[in-house]
Amino acid sequence: MTVPLPAPGKATASAPANIAFIKYWGARDLERALPVNPSISMTLTRCRSRTTVEVRPGPGEDEIALADGAGGLRPAAGAFAARIHGHLDALRRWAGLAPGAASFRVATHNSFPAAAGLASSASGFAALTVATVAALGRAASPAELSSLARRSGSGSAARSVVGGYVEWPATRGPATPPADADDPVAATVAPADHWDLRDLIALVETGAKEVSSLAGHRRAATSPHFDRRLAELPHRLDAVRRAILARDFAALAPRVEEEAIDLHLIAMSSRPPIFYWQPATLAVLAAVRALRGEGVAACSTMDAGANVHVLCPPDAEEAVAARLAATAGVHEVLRDRVGDGPELHDEHFF
Ligand code: DP6
Repeated sequence: MTVPLPAPGKATASAPANIAFIKYWGARDLERALPVNPSISMTLTRCRSRTTVEVRPGPGEDEIALADGAGGLRPAAGAFAARIHGHLDALRRWAGLAPGAASFRVATHNSFPAAAGLASSASGFAALTVATVAALGRAASPAELSSLARRSGSGSAARSVVGGYVEWPATRGPATPPADADDPVAATVAPADHWDLRDLIALVETGAKEVSSLAGHRRAATSPHFDRRLAELPHRLDAVRRAILARDFAALAPRVEEEAIDLHLIAMSSRPPIFYWQPATLAVLAAVRALRGEGVAACSTMDAGANVHVLCPPDAEEAVAARLAATAGVHEVLRDRVGDGPELHDEHFF
């Protein structure tokens, strides 16, 4: 039997990270990254992963390298490389390629500091997915890209293939054909140009976090507060969606902060508990409350880590950045903003 070979091809894509206003926390199927609850995020612009993928027809090993951004490449190793190998297998299956029909050469780079402790898997797997589909010469709708990115095991990657303000449902409703409850796909609630919001990221942690999101999802339901959280979420989700559509920061801010605290409350009351915050995390939260007391519009949110994302309208950005930079324990402030999602590029890493 002859195995049909794909044409050789090469593509480079970049995809941004995203910050969740309503968090994905807890999975009904962790292996497939199927969430218990819907989430809403803002796609960023500057915190990006950029990835080149080359398709090599015929049998061979996949090769994965880290690009240093200055022309250098070094082989990727360990758990990081293993997750990429796993996702390339999933993409081969999606493309209908038999094992041995093609191998991939991959090089990837993050625009944000590698040691920043910021989750890079959402942007990384979104960029890998978009570049691989393009290198294979295939077309995929945004919904299909979202579904494919999710199969990396990083659920938040499902949101990074879409621009602007994005909702990722927990299941796919009957209104979205083909209605497959086990294939929820993210979609834009409002495009980036609907509302210019800034995200100033106060880096207080520079190492890798101790407990992965994966472990957090696994433990979430052991918290005695998890059912209460799920009961409250539909109302909070609705309030966040309405605040985005109405560009109403005063309505958005308390819901976003309450949600971030809820995520960490669940983590801290999981069995065994997970503590992501550092003392400087609390210092930043206090600085943001103080800013608000002075009439500056700002609110905080944190993912599964100690760093704090401070959201604000453009006219508050300078005041927020200055206060964060002056807060004890903040190493660096990254300035990002809402953006449009993945892009294809003509320049490749190799
Ligand atoms: C707290 O399973 O997508 O960021 O693969 O580490 O990016 P990574 O995590 P994932 O869970 C994301 C958890 C979260 C909340 C969110 O982004 O919705």
